[in-house]
Amino acid sequence: MIRGVLERYKSYLPVNEKTPMFTLGEGDTPLVRSKTISQEVGCDELYFKLEGCNPSGSFKDRGMVLAVAKAMEEGGESIVCASTGNTSASAAAYGAYCGLETTVFVPKNNIARGKLAQAITYGARIILIDGNFDDALKVVRELTAKHPIILVNSLNPYRIEGQKTASFEIIEDLGTAPDYLFIPVGNAGNITAYWQGFVEARNMEWTAILPKMMGFQAEGAAAIVRGRPIAKPETIASAIRVGNPASWDGAVKARDESNGTIDSVTDEEIMEAYEWIARKEGIFCEPASAASVAGLIKLSRNGVHLKDSKIVCVLTGTGLKDPDLASSMEPVFMDEYPPQLEAVERALGLH
Ligand code: F0G
Repeated sequence: MIRGVLERYKSYLPVNEKTPMFTLGEGDTPLVRSKTISQEVGCDELYFKLEGCNPSGSFKDRGMVLAVAKAMEEGGESIVCASTGNTSASAAAYGAYCGLETTVFVPKNNIARGKLAQAITYGARIILIDGNFDDALKVVRELTAKHPIILVNSLNPYRIEGQKTASFEIIEDLGTAPDYLFIPVGNAGNITAYWQGFVEARNMEWTAILPKMMGFQAEGAAAIVRGRPIAKPETIASAIRVGNPASWDGAVKARDESNGTIDSVTDEEIMEAYEWIARKEGIFCEPASAASVAGLIKLSRNGVHLKDSKIVCVLTGTGLKDPDLASSMEPVFMDEYPPQLEAVERALGLH
């Protein structure tokens, strides 16, 4: 029986006897050891944290379960978020479970089809914003400042508290924090949460070391790398198409305190990593998730010595989120045949 993030980590989360304890099965995601990419990058111990195995298919569920539980505790009836897609799917799922009125604001033309399908099916109210994620976030902040509607973006501190549990799990699985944690950066909540988790775990003596936090933005949306907001962010990885990250300071703190880095990867590098993860490791993640591995590949190509390091790449969401992009990949083989043995034998070169 899965305990879920609230029950499993209640001693380390801001929950009390009035907080409703429930789960949709979030957390306890697999840490899978790399078979092939580890060799390609010259690292003996590389792992992928499969956050796409969460109930709505992304890491957002870890924080959403706590944000929604606290909303229920406070007697809230209505939640709202702005999203590139995954936060909206997660809010819609937990909102549906709790019977809350859930409204999601998403950029009109820039949300992957699987994510919109989830929001529709979970029954959320969907506001298509004629603008980008940053525009949507601005308007929901204004809305929640004026009306009694609870904001469940990662500006909500409970989201960060819930998401930090991923660090706890990695330490439990490895017996220590890794030397490096590679993670995609969009609105920068997740890198902030992981760092908080690792620091808390170190303070509780669950780990002697802290990882270097290696955050990767998409080149067309690399506000933190450039040191200024990007008015019109662009990238194929729509989940991280964010021009002015809300948790900018948290990301910089994680980078600086850990002696890590925040760098960018191009769409080509993201797509190469996306294909490698699927075809060399058997793992289907979404393009934004591949930014973490793209960052690792970039580092190894720059000659950074990784051999004796323990490395974890966070794969933040499942590949099924973005079926259009996945279907646009070049198939290894795909053609049409009549249902006849001879024809398929010929096609497969079997004589
Ligand atoms: N990976 C995926 C699959 C995401 O959906 C996101 C963010 C990130 C990485 C980056 O995480 O924002 O905490 O730095 N998605 C947000 C959303 C923006 O609305 O679903 P972050």
